Amino acid sequence: MRLGRIAAFLAVSLAVAGSAPADAHPRSDDGSLRAAARGTGVRIGTAVDMSALAADAPYREAVAREFDTVTPENVMKWEAVEPQPGVYDWAAADQLVDFARKNGQLVRGHTLVWHSQNPAWLTESAYTPAQLRTLLRKHILDEVGHFKGRIWAWDVANEVFNDDGTPRDTIWLRALGPGYIADAFRWAHQADPKALLFLNDYNNEGVNPKSDAYFALTRQLLAQGVPVQGYGIQGHLALQYDFPDSVLDNVRRFDKLGVRTAFTEVDVRMLLPADTAKVRAQAEGFGLLLRACLLVKHCVSYTVWGFTDKYSWVPGVFDGEGSATPFDENLRPKPAYATLRDTLLLARR
Ligand code: XIL
Repeated sequence: MRLGRIAAFLAVSLAVAGSAPADAHPRSDDGSLRAAARGTGVRIGTAVDMSALAADAPYREAVAREFDTVTPENVMKWEAVEPQPGVYDWAAADQLVDFARKNGQLVRGHTLVWHSQNPAWLTESAYTPAQLRTLLRKHILDEVGHFKGRIWAWDVANEVFNDDGTPRDTIWLRALGPGYIADAFRWAHQADPKALLFLNDYNNEGVNPKSDAYFALTRQLLAQGVPVQGYGIQGHLALQYDFPDSVLDNVRRFDKLGVRTAFTEVDVRMLLPADTAKVRAQAEGFGLLLRACLLVKHCVSYTVWGFTDKYSWVPGVFDGEGSATPFDENLRPKPAYATLRDTLLLARR
């Protein structure tokens, strides 16, 4: 298994290297990921923690220097933008969109319909199904409309399937039935016809029942003329489980279907304490997903879910785990950073 994986890694690396003459790009770059990604067709991004962006200058400088897309880690979620019914607060999200514009970055909007991080007032007991449909429609039209022309890609529907490929039991499925997904895409497209609209989930990196369900859904939506343009793979990996296999096969089948793909929330957590062997193995996880992205035509971006352990969501959510990002708590690069950079440099066309 291990040897098999290493062989696969080498094969893929050589394939990437083989597609670009080594001297095609003289060193015009400043050593950043952003510069390394130039000419690969893949944008490199990070989730942004708005408190850190406001308070921490080195963090802010690293976001601007290293990445060419940004995703709000929390501030575009429904609970953040509409804390009271009909009372919107776009301030933090607007700040990120402004920051991105100043730094020549594109924004991935995240996320419009989800079972989590909805406002406390949004409950099934407070509203009828018809009212919930009206609320969801208004939420999507208002939010996408507010940012019209300023969001490159939206994660429209987040985490709508279980790992076994059955529809996730959520307030939306219960109240509106499975058609809520198509409706969400139609409303988002109506509000901003130019934004790329994505499905997005975790544990859907390789070919498995969950990604099969997404494949079937995407095909069905396309056949119905629903405006879906992308398949998002969050990419939350963990060292203590095997890394996913068949990632390239999976991304390829969506590529052939004619939709974009994106890795949207990559991190590779580990049981603490971290050590040299673990952070080196972690780099393989980051590289594995990036290589799959670079080897297909329509994988448009690769986003890490936070770039520094200083602000990563992992320790707060996964007990005893951490060290999940490419930079340590002191914003010093870990081996994953070099792997990302080298992998991008090899793929430049
Ligand atoms: C996480 C954030 O990182 C945390 O700060 C927050 O407390 C919970 O949500 N999948 C997603 C992201 O789509 O929105 C989640 O972000 C991580 C899992």
